[in-house]
Amino acid sequence: MSRSLHAPGHCNPSANPTFAEVLLARRSFLSAGLGLAALALAPGCAARGTRPAIGFTPIAPSSEDLLRVPPEYEARVLYRWGDPVGAAAGMPQFRPDGSNSAADQALQAGMHHDGMHYFPLQGSTHGLLAMNHEYLDEGLLFPDGMRTWSAEKVAKAQNAVGVSVIEVRLEGSEWKVIRPSKYARRVTARTPCGISGPAAGHATMRTAADPSGRVVLGTYNGCAHGWTPWGTYLTCEENWHNQFVSGGPPSEDEQRYRITAKGRGYRWEEHDERFNAAKHPNEANRFGWIVEIDPYDPDSVPVKRTALGRIKHEGAACSVGSDGRLAFYMGDDEAFEYIYKFVTAKPWVPNSREANRNLLDQGTLYVARFDADGTGTWLPLTGPDPGAVLVRTRQSADAAGATKMDRAEWIVPHPVTREVFAALTNSTERKNADPANPRAPNPFGHIVRWREEGDDIAATRFRWEVFALAGPEGKNTIKGDAFACPDGLWIDAMGTLWVQTDVSPTALGRGDFAALGNNQMLAVDPEVGVFRRFLTGPRGCEITGFHTTPDNRSAFVNIQHPGETPGDRSNPDNPRSFSNWPDYAADGRPRSATVVIRRKDGGIIGT
Ligand code: FEO
Ligand code: CA
Ligand code: CA
Repeated sequence: MSRSLHAPGHCNPSANPTFAEVLLARRSFLSAGLGLAALALAPGCAARGTRPAIGFTPIAPSSEDLLRVPPEYEARVLYRWGDPVGAAAGMPQFRPDGSNSAADQALQAGMHHDGMHYFPLQGSTHGLLAMNHEYLDEGLLFPDGMRTWSAEKVAKAQNAVGVSVIEVRLEGSEWKVIRPSKYARRVTARTPCGISGPAAGHATMRTAADPSGRVVLGTYNGCAHGWTPWGTYLTCEENWHNQFVSGGPPSEDEQRYRITAKGRGYRWEEHDERFNAAKHPNEANRFGWIVEIDPYDPDSVPVKRTALGRIKHEGAACSVGSDGRLAFYMGDDEAFEYIYKFVTAKPWVPNSREANRNLLDQGTLYVARFDADGTGTWLPLTGPDPGAVLVRTRQSADAAGATKMDRAEWIVPHPVTREVFAALTNSTERKNADPANPRAPNPFGHIVRWREEGDDIAATRFRWEVFALAGPEGKNTIKGDAFACPDGLWIDAMGTLWVQTDVSPTALGRGDFAALGNNQMLAVDPEVGVFRRFLTGPRGCEITGFHTTPDNRSAFVNIQHPGETPGDRSNPDNPRSFSNWPDYAADGRPRSATVVIRRKDGGIIGT
């Protein structure tokens, strides 16, 4: 999600140190000769030595309304907002004037594609793609935007977010969406979901509609994504607070999650009163979770796994330990919020999906503290009332003494070395605009990496460093091609780190950002550290969501919100004012879409 929907400033009242303060102290520490040795390079990585070198022709920045890839590659649009998901219940075609009904939208791709994962049916040529539809733009969703408002419009908006599961197959050299498909499915803000783990049934989770505190309608604003080794998809509820209104003055707990009296103008509460917290104060406690979805079983009920905490989740990236236990790394994407790790109590059981069904319900949630000596500590979040600790995860982390980060977006562990990379997209607290101020903004973002002690996913100590400070030439520490505001990260089967950017539309093309053009994707070998620009997006989009087939010969990329306006919502009278990608239809509108990228010779992605 772009910064335009992240209100400036922050809502963390704690006195915990910021990462900027830690970095400043780190510089003094190093200049006094006290620094620990730099992070050791990855040891004997299996991919290392056999991996093909990154070899594509890097491309220049672009400000055109086009998707560009290197000349050796081709990119094809696969699945756009409004395309039928392929359910047997119906395959309504997209209407370019935005006039599809709420019922149509429930059977079509949602808006604002984000994190995504390929689940094989047959290796690298036939599988399922599960993806998030993060948020929406009512100026594009409806012919007249929000000029009129109705229960039907709220229902369509709620059906335009959530998750898609589609069946895809490689036919010749071209990927196709299979329609109809028994797997095709939409999960929306209206889909019944279970609630499990320590907060299930907690007093703060019970509502008039659900006195059990164990069933909730819907998941939305899922950002980045997660996965499990047994083949389930994790959607990660990020800016869920924007749809709630507190009605009267927000409570302290509501303020800590930035629920405001009027919300962000979604107007869901006008026709779905559970989003009015004055009437249903506990409903908001039922959002902000990691939600597990089984893409292979279209009848399965999504489950909110409360053991992984309640924050504005950005991803839940899985790292498999040597003893089979799992760690999930998670960012809380708001200025001066924290980075978390959940470690399962038990190892996962290969070849038995049933045995892993509730594995995510037991474990320890930690929050990260980064120290000036280059080490860090995972602080466990515990208490006599585990449900309360989790519902109020941010407050628990405040009390533990976590480090305030610069908006944690995607975090990815290397599948072999277990080294972890985190994108901190930027931090722009306006009242501290002096760069000499230790609370100064970090306008361009950075990528931080760490290694767990003993490369043990369950370690409570780690060593960290800044991998790259992003920004334009002269203001970054990037070797190779420049970028700003890293957001999406992925490490593919070859060990290549992919970086996707999300410069907000209020900054794109202006000042320091002008030379960087539209949002982009780059590749870097973490051991070499040279960034090469692989893709540039159309105007106003962000690039987010990336996954390759197991053979690394096909890559799926999501292009989110092409044509996003500097305001939050498009002008319905002029929907093509910033972009008309990907259809370029005279009477159409820009559409978020999944794109498939292949080498023209069918070779390995990244070479
Ligand atoms: Fe939805 Fe933090 O990006
Ligand atoms: Ca972002
Ligand atoms: Ca993001």
